[in-house]
Amino acid sequence: MALLKRILFMILIVDIASIKLGRGFVNTTLIFWRCGSQSQSGNYNRAAMEVKGRLKRNTGRRGNNYYTSERVRDELRRRCYGHAICNQALSRQECIDCLQVTGTRLIQLCGFALSARVMLHDCYMRYSDGYFYEGCKNNASHLNLNFSPQGISELC
Ligand SMILES: *[C@@H]1O[C@H](CO)[C@@H](O)[C@H](O)[C@H]1NC(C)=O
Ligand SMILES: *[C@@H]1O[C@H](CO)[C@@H](O)[C@H](O)[C@H]1NC(C)=O
Repeated sequence: MALLKRILFMILIVDIASIKLGRGFVNTTLIFWRCGSQSQSGNYNRAAMEVKGRLKRNTGRRGNNYYTSERVRDELRRRCYGHAICNQALSRQECIDCLQVTGTRLIQLCGFALSARVMLHDCYMRYSDGYFYEGCKNNASHLNLNFSPQGISELC
């Protein structure tokens, strides 16, 4: 029993330590967007939807900066690549909320484009059928410390 209590106590401490307080509001003002040409492939669109879904769900749980890609069914070597980043001032849930809005914006602004990116004041989402990670990955610490539309549009 004592052991169980100790374990529960430790879980509680770890849990509290992992809660980020956040800022209390999310600024979803649209800053810029860019759309590639429209996709003609249902399989590609399905991969892109999967990628966007993961970006929305997972980025807030993965340090507000997250990459994922998905293979396109029946198309050899073709993938959809995705990246999302939130202002580090945002809590996990605030990041999820912000990216929910980018997801909606991407569809409104770009439809089923092969590649698209949307920057809101507090978060950014991009997906593409071409690999584009180098600039952002090589500058991850810079991006995490200085969340700015200029930096992100130049590097990611
Ligand atoms: C939200 O972001 C826009 C664009 O960057 C800025 O003009 C505005 O002042 C921000 N609003 C708040 C409440 O911070
Ligand atoms: C980003 O990374 C590249 C190397 O890939 C480096 O040359 C460049 O200075 C970095 N930019 C910033 C702002 O850190």
